Amino acid sequence: MIERLSEPATASMWCRKMRTQGLQIGLVPTMGALHEGHLSLVRRALQENDRVCASIFVNPLQFNEHSDLLSYPLSPDQDVQLLDRIGCHMVFFGTLDAFFPQLKPEQIPMQEPGPYSLGLEGDSRPGHFAGVATIVKRLFEVTKPSRTYFGEKDFQQSLVVRDLARKMGYPEVVVCQTSREPGGLARSSRNRGLDDIQRRHARCLSVALRCTRSAWQAGERDAQILESLLWESLDNAGVEIVYATLRDPDQWTKQAPKGYLVRAQALVAARIGGIRLIDNMRLDSTAELDSGDSESSRQAIG
Ligand code: PAF
Repeated sequence: MIERLSEPATASMWCRKMRTQGLQIGLVPTMGALHEGHLSLVRRALQENDRVCASIFVNPLQFNEHSDLLSYPLSPDQDVQLLDRIGCHMVFFGTLDAFFPQLKPEQIPMQEPGPYSLGLEGDSRPGHFAGVATIVKRLFEVTKPSRTYFGEKDFQQSLVVRDLARKMGYPEVVVCQTSREPGGLARSSRNRGLDDIQRRHARCLSVALRCTRSAWQAGERDAQILESLLWESLDNAGVEIVYATLRDPDQWTKQAPKGYLVRAQALVAARIGGIRLIDNMRLDSTAELDSGDSESSRQAIG
């Protein structure tokens, strides 16, 4: 039976007890409204750790639009059931008050999110990554996990978190491949806001990414040509593009690189029916995998 805790202090005690027994903890931070993508992170964490803790906290600090925070989907009881069913050991829910006792939101010391927060999501959602880094740091401090699991769908977030973990000296960050629905749509809690037609339409994000990847596989290496392919594919599909661009994943830059690319990650953000969706794909020549369970990259700390 899963342990359901609502205070960081009790979650911290639970984790300390596990650690004193020599058990390794895997942490899966979430904002709830769990889907198969989250569950695949938990399953992966269960394979690699003695105990797994998931956190569910819709973090107000990372929402730059209040209306977005208010409309964020919530299903806490169903989430706990799903986690329990797959064998997750502990789930804890936070509140801003519990994470930062006696501080008003504006008094909370915000974590500097570092160089990977520049550009794209950082430009489009001012303050977002400072909010993410601030709460993820607290989650690490509370649980002191050996490993933590993030989805590659939030590619830029995974870079920000890796950088934070590197600075803190722990935990090992495991980034798992994006989990996709059969038509290719990246799984996201926000997909719940799409109706059937919009959901089908939203597949065009992964189609555009795949089309750009095919050009890469056919030998195209020019940043501007690849970017215009990505842009055109989305534009033809009639979505409202927020950004559609490339980055060198190993040398993050605020601006898009120009000219010949050695490595490239294609990244998109678009609105469909008012819902903001993001997706990305590594432009490489590996065979395509559809599940979120099978590939990951690791960040060894220390
Ligand atoms: O990816 C998310 O769900 C959130 O950004 C996270 C990492 C749980 C921090 O609130």
